[in-house]
Amino acid sequence: MVEEIIYSAAHGVAQIRISRADKKNALTASMYAALADAIVRAEADSAVRAIVILGSQGAFTAGNDLQEFLQDPPIGLDRPVYRFMAALAGAEKVVIAGVAGLAVGIGTTLLLHCDLVVAGLGARFSLPFVNLGLVPEFASSLLLPQLIGRQLAGKHLLLAEPFDAATALAYGIVSEVVDNAEVDTVALEWASRVAAKAPGAVRETKRLLKPDALLIAQRITAEATVFSAQLSSQEAREALSAFVEKRAPRFDV
Ligand code: COA
Repeated sequence: MVEEIIYSAAHGVAQIRISRADKKNALTASMYAALADAIVRAEADSAVRAIVILGSQGAFTAGNDLQEFLQDPPIGLDRPVYRFMAALAGAEKVVIAGVAGLAVGIGTTLLLHCDLVVAGLGARFSLPFVNLGLVPEFASSLLLPQLIGRQLAGKHLLLAEPFDAATALAYGIVSEVVDNAEVDTVALEWASRVAAKAPGAVRETKRLLKPDALLIAQRITAEATVFSAQLSSQEAREALSAFVEKRAPRFDV
């Protein structure tokens, strides 16, 4: 089977690449498990000083696999997606994301937990949870309004409006915007620069820059309860079935 999460490490930098191009890098439970393992592995490797997460073939990720949401909904904090996001949110090493193309759902959410993000000019971000009968997750209901204010967060979490790279830069979700073809190179170059710096100072600076970990953990748990309830709801089943059946959802029945 083709590897969908590819891990490599060299010269102080761990690289994690999402590679499921035929499904726009949509993430399945086994991919989340591999992502969690990759972060844990990089954190445990004393030779690694920075971690880079990249997409492939024009997509960062189209978010959670919607077919899987329908067939095997991730209910319960022991599921691989929670393990991955806990590893990411708790990482002590610097995590850099390179977004060339689509970053949908958790693809945008996870950026809020990264330390540096480089996006391509064609990157497109969205948090379409309400369109799917779902709610924000992994502390995005806390971190996004903190970053951009509640009214702008409402545009993206209540109206589910997508936004482009320039907007993401203005919001502070992204550190820099470059040509699409340069995204991976810039992300890896930043990681090399981090890897060459005093590791103790980098680790402590990251820790000081990060928002309150306890507050984030509490919000993740609170959101998970609502998310799980919504995932089992009739409206979510209608929205997810509509995606699979390639039709518009109906919420009036
Ligand atoms: N889960 C499962 N399959 C997905 C997927 C997802 N999140 N996103 C894309 N795919 C699949 C499509 O079903 C399609 O599969 P098929 O070729 O077997 O029909 C393939 O990936 C290509 O997607 P397609 O929709 O043809 O590409 P596009 O460029 O026209 O649109 C998206 C891309 C991402 C805008 C669109 O696929 C989409 O809206 N996906 C759902 C995103 C989403 O809601 N994610 C969850 C957020 S919580």
